[in-house]
Amino acid sequence: MGKIIVNGGNKLTGEVSISGAKNAILPILAATVIGGNESTIFNVPDLRDVKVMEKILLSLGCNIKRIDKMMWVDSKPLNSTKIPDELVREMRSSIILMGAMLSRCGEVVISYPGGCEIGPRPIDMHLKSLRELGAEIEESHGFIYCKTEGLRGGEIQLDYPSVGATENIMLASVKAKGTTIIRNAAREPEIIDLQNYLNKGGAKINGAGTSVVTIEGVGELTDIAYNTMPDRIVAGTYMIASAITGGEIIIKNVIIDHIQAIIAKLREAGCLIYNDNNSLKIIGPKRPNSIEMIQTLPYPGFPTDMQAQMMALLSIANGTSIISETVFENRFKHAEELIRMGANIKTFGKVAVIKGVKELTGAKTSAKDLRGGACLVLVGLSARGVTEIENVYHIERGYENFHIALKELGADIKMVD
Ligand code: EPZ
Repeated sequence: MGKIIVNGGNKLTGEVSISGAKNAILPILAATVIGGNESTIFNVPDLRDVKVMEKILLSLGCNIKRIDKMMWVDSKPLNSTKIPDELVREMRSSIILMGAMLSRCGEVVISYPGGCEIGPRPIDMHLKSLRELGAEIEESHGFIYCKTEGLRGGEIQLDYPSVGATENIMLASVKAKGTTIIRNAAREPEIIDLQNYLNKGGAKINGAGTSVVTIEGVGELTDIAYNTMPDRIVAGTYMIASAITGGEIIIKNVIIDHIQAIIAKLREAGCLIYNDNNSLKIIGPKRPNSIEMIQTLPYPGFPTDMQAQMMALLSIANGTSIISETVFENRFKHAEELIRMGANIKTFGKVAVIKGVKELTGAKTSAKDLRGGACLVLVGLSARGVTEIENVYHIERGYENFHIALKELGADIKMVD
């Protein structure tokens, strides 16, 4: 159970390059089972969640080779339809394997993913949509049994633009008979990456990135080579590392279009941000301005995955800010840890009021979830004295060598076991 120890006060300066996006790679790895083909995926970071998906694919009989950031998956030898439940518990987003496995072999057994640290995480839209495409789904004793005589295209109206539900429907529709139309689809850039990966193998998907996605079922998929998009949330996290320390950081390999909402809010907080189309420089202010209101929303709104990191910055801002978390039910767990460090934060359900203080003081803290853990590291970079963050495994789910990259940017930080 690793622990990060950071001694605050250093301004961060230098360059960091962003790796592939966790939330693009996970659905793409699920998609590799559909075609019984070979996929070569580039720019795959070394993340705990990617390792879990790798273990699941191996348990299903796939062959995998990994050389540095390249991952090769051969799903021809797939010989099982049961997703190991200890791995589903470790990573609930493995639920998107349902659509992919139904496409490939017409059946799958997966344990109920259940809730996680940020909320109950229901999957009602996933199950309702897959049933509309012809899947017979039974839920009993904590397991979901899915099978189909053959998926058929349909018109699906999502009650909410769920990222995972959109991905599950796309994966189930790739080889379905006929055409599927998803309305009120999620518009996140990771959905576009999934479309681009599948279309490189001969799938016929259009509209990803808009709220209407159309999938025309095809017979087979060819082998695919694909370079995943850079991680917009990791990029945003390093931007806040510069902002919270009054630093000056250059971030390379980032798609500016994906982070416009983050750029807008950090400019409001007083950061100077200069960019070309795939890199940016961000200069942090002496002390951040408060921001009247941040509301987390589905893309292209301000991302919920950046909410905790923004709360870190606003906890030392000059004035009072309000954050409204509209996407998840229980995503303020990091607030209690920030309060232990001297922050003045009050939460009322899904709204947090942050009265900025001049300085936080280092303390022993513990990560409760992935982005909340990143938030604690960020605030430790600027707090007076030493901050310890335990349960670092949460952070390793989505950040590759986080403390090493921050150390290279000038942070006084280390990891101890
Ligand atoms: C994806 O989760 C991401 N995970 C999350 O990133 C991200 O926060 C989220 O999308 C929103 O952008 C991956 O891509 C692996 P949703 P997902 O379905 O698909 C409710 C991170 O930190 N809902 O869009 O689970 C749900 O409870 C992670 O990298 C239903 O009610 O998100 C939530 O309140 C955290 N019923 C809201 O919709 C359903 O059937 C958004 O969930 C499905 C979802």
